[in-house]
Amino acid sequence: MKEARVIELTNEAIASYYKEEIVSSDLTKAILYSVNAGGKRLRPLLFLLLLEGFGISLTEDHYPIAASLEMIHTGSLIHDDLPAMDDDDYRRGQLTNHKQFDEATAILAGDALFLDAFGLLATSSLPADKIVQLVKLLSDAAGSRGMVGGQMLDIKGEHQALEEADLVAIHSNKTGKLLKYPFLAAGIVSDLPKQDIERLGKAGQLIGLAFQVRDDILDVTADFSELGKTPKKDIVAEKTTYPSLFGLEQSISILNQSLDDALRIFEEFENSHQFDAQRIRTVIERLRLDA
Ligand code: IPE
Ligand code: IPE
Ligand code: MG
Ligand code: MG
Ligand code: MG
Repeated sequence: MKEARVIELTNEAIASYYKEEIVSSDLTKAILYSVNAGGKRLRPLLFLLLLEGFGISLTEDHYPIAASLEMIHTGSLIHDDLPAMDDDDYRRGQLTNHKQFDEATAILAGDALFLDAFGLLATSSLPADKIVQLVKLLSDAAGSRGMVGGQMLDIKGEHQALEEADLVAIHSNKTGKLLKYPFLAAGIVSDLPKQDIERLGKAGQLIGLAFQVRDDILDVTADFSELGKTPKKDIVAEKTTYPSLFGLEQSISILNQSLDDALRIFEEFENSHQFDAQRIRTVIERLRLDA
């Protein structure tokens, strides 16, 4: 299936969740404002293209899984931009949620996205034991064991002289775990044995860390029109980042090296499994930056 169509069906799955049983239309409006602001939809795309790579035809059972992940990601961005967090005015090329509405609305829109995600995930008709595994993994990736835990480390790390190990802990939790999840989830949905899921997860981990290294680099090198968010925020907030620790050139080479390591794992899967890595490779190649 074409990438644009995969994304469209993921978007439809999110939209369908907000079509009925609306308690507060103000809340739904704020949720959909951020959901519909665009975004690359990288995480759902990775999950769905991995499934296709394993020869699974995408059905309406798969989109709620992809959509729930994107909902948590979008909620994390709304909260990340709040004045008490990174205090950003722009996201996805438009005003941040709290700027467009107000802080209370943005907090609640994020809360709703985090919790609605699990409601939507539960609507998938895949075997219940798989959905339960996905619920556990998604909670681990998103909550205190993952993204939220990493955000806490990130905030506590401001104005501190951090070392590489601290930065790896921050990045792999605040960003890495939600990017690793599509790999683990694809392994579960594809019925892979445990050790293969772990190996796929390793590729996801490499890509997850690489993705935040890339975000740190772009914060320094890209402009508003490319980012859709205010550049050079990390310097102002005195965050330790890959460029601040290693310089731009070395950060770019760490990024590209991690992507290469992940691509090698896909090659292994092509040689040992019925797996076609072509499309996932194309997506991963887009994350590369030139020195
Ligand atoms: C931005 O994520 C926040 C990070 C985790 C670095 P994305 O770059 O995937 O943001 P969208 O979804 O495309 O807006
Ligand atoms: C994002 O990290 C991590 C999240 C959990 C949202 P950043 O704070 O660097 O992301 P941007 O640069 O605001 O998108
Ligand atoms: Mg942040
Ligand atoms: Mg931020
Ligand atoms: Mg950033």
